Amino acid sequence: MEKKRIVTGDRPTGRLHIGHYFGSLKNRVKMQESGEYDPYILVADVQALTDNFNNPEKVRKNVREVVMDYLSVGIDPEKTTIYIQSMIPEVAELTVFYSNLVTIARLERNPTVKTEIAQKRDLFGESVTYGFLGYPVSQAADITALEGKIVPVGEDQLPLIEQCREIVRKFNSIYGEVLVEPEAVLSKEKRIKGLDGNEKMGKSLGNAIYLSDSEEEVNKKVMSAVTDPNRIKKDDLGNPDVCMVAYYHKLFSSEEECKTVCEECRAGKRGCVACKKQLAKNINATLEPMRQKRKYYEERPELVDEILIKGTEKARQTAKETMKKVKKAMKLDYFE
Ligand code: TRP
Repeated sequence: MEKKRIVTGDRPTGRLHIGHYFGSLKNRVKMQESGEYDPYILVADVQALTDNFNNPEKVRKNVREVVMDYLSVGIDPEKTTIYIQSMIPEVAELTVFYSNLVTIARLERNPTVKTEIAQKRDLFGESVTYGFLGYPVSQAADITALEGKIVPVGEDQLPLIEQCREIVRKFNSIYGEVLVEPEAVLSKEKRIKGLDGNEKMGKSLGNAIYLSDSEEEVNKKVMSAVTDPNRIKKDDLGNPDVCMVAYYHKLFSSEEECKTVCEECRAGKRGCVACKKQLAKNINATLEPMRQKRKYYEERPELVDEILIKGTEKARQTAKETMKKVKKAMKLDYFE
């Protein structure tokens, strides 16, 4: 049976954290290992520039950081093709072609874009750039250039895939059945909250544990995690439902351990410090093999380059074939 092509990606604007791990990376590794798919992961540097155009150095630096994060969690370049978005010029070409098939009003209504614009007032002021408003079009080009069939996403990315599907249908209805319509597969994992209890874990919020954090950094961060505010002394009865330490225990500790921790907390028998120490130990046990893998690649940057060069070449080949079909359908194949 033919393997289903998956296309996913991340904006390289910072190293990846445990929220990314539980939200998407873990699932990507699982899908990779199932052998049922042909997965591609793109490092979306062009998309990252849409809201970081004034900071190219940040984007450049994080391309390799993000790739090392992928490798450290077990993305295997023999099974998953990793490539750099800006190195596929066909994606930029497709974006221009697709831009005729999308209205400005439709882009402005995209809930994901709308939320992001509201969050980026500092950058955009009263008027958003053409590039940022149009990034869903570029993302549609990412997916269709590779004939992606499946796009595993979190809730927040659903409107982007819906927009891509609309573009595909419009294209095919005008120029003929050329593009593959992708399907969003919603990740079952929910978004991981930050150490401070914020709904979102993120760099700008300063509440994230990074996959590449050292043991000391993890220990320090866990000590700062928000616990039940009503519990002041150890023998106060605690409420693990409002404690971030208990929340992370559920992700990193065994069921047995979670049960004991919560029971002892409710009974006022376990102090927060002991509870945090145990959590930090378990997080470190999960991250340690990742740190080892990361170190291996950090010491061999030429290997990372080689993976990216090979992956990009492979992705480019497919994109070129798509472009040929697209140009023929759009009557742009002048000298063929
Ligand atoms: N929008 C995604 C993000 O912000 C990154 C991305 C770019 C992507 N192109 C993609 C995801 C194609 C899936 C498919 O993280």
